Amino acid sequence: MDQPAAVITTAPTSPTVILTGDRPTGPLHLGHYVGSLRGRVQYQHDYKQFVMLADSQALTDNMDDIDKVHRNVVEVALDYLAVGIDPAKTTIFIQSQIPELAELTFYYLNLVTVARLERNPTVKQEIVLRGFERDIPAGFLTYPASQAADITAFKAQVVPVGEDQIPMIEQTNEIVRRFNRTYNQEILVECKALVPEIGRLPGTDGKAKMSKSLGNTINLGASSDEIRAAVKKVYTDPLHLRVEDPGHLEGNVAFIYLDAFDNDKASLEEMKAHYQRGGLGDSIVKKRLDAVLQELLAPIRARREELAKDKGYVMQVLKEGTMRAREVAARTTDEVKAALGLNYF
Ligand code: TRP
Repeated sequence: MDQPAAVITTAPTSPTVILTGDRPTGPLHLGHYVGSLRGRVQYQHDYKQFVMLADSQALTDNMDDIDKVHRNVVEVALDYLAVGIDPAKTTIFIQSQIPELAELTFYYLNLVTVARLERNPTVKQEIVLRGFERDIPAGFLTYPASQAADITAFKAQVVPVGEDQIPMIEQTNEIVRRFNRTYNQEILVECKALVPEIGRLPGTDGKAKMSKSLGNTINLGASSDEIRAAVKKVYTDPLHLRVEDPGHLEGNVAFIYLDAFDNDKASLEEMKAHYQRGGLGDSIVKKRLDAVLQELLAPIRARREELAKDKGYVMQVLKEGTMRAREVAARTTDEVKAALGLNYF
């Protein structure tokens, strides 16, 4: 696979550990690309990066659909590799294959209260979204402790996440402080959330979030026809009825996407001014957006298709990454167990 030039010129400058992960419940899309994948491709040059396929966490609300989770582990891994996450620089691993993560979770559960878990804003919101109000699976309610295990097992200092995950980072740091204070050791490391500057990408329909469940995504593996069809339906300015009318940019998804993906900023600014003055039809804007997205996604799709033919290679990457990650997690778990007096032999 071609390497970006930066690999050659950028020396590792810091041993900072960075860890992030995704629940493998569906293929990744442009929202993930802007919100996290693009960053990971950069971070891997300067940090010691771990990227986790959070299949165990995905099961906390998918025990009735285990096939979906199993299938998407490979799909998401293909997305990672296709966008340029390099397994020689980034340790990509599967959560469920590291039993130490479950072990740490079991101990951390005694350092959080049910009331605190119930107050976690992200968990609270997800409980409503999933209709769990009357019957919350215990594993779901307690997944913040598992996420704390994911992060602390690797002594991650930086965790790039969307804004919705900030409560997870706060709860992780509470566990870290409580552990270190109670057992009088500095074993666990506090972490910082790294929230991307360009916030969330809206869906093609104009809704605030691009999300599989809303059906408003453009997937990284989308075909050329799928991209064209999605662009055709992209939400623009509902008041821009005739070409000569002045158009608005606020909430105009075509321009929001162009801002995110079109590198020719000067001519984009010209186009925006023309649109606002009036006299520029949506079809011209969409034609440009289609061209930009086709150019962005064509090489990703090609690499994805190539890799998909060699599942053996993908599984090998995951296996090696998981083995490397497990060694790190096992070292931390040994330290944690020793601090808890669970070291008998
Ligand atoms: N909860 C994250 C999500 O919904 C996934 C995740 C699991 C994660 N463990 C993590 C993210 C550890 C960062 C660090 O996408």
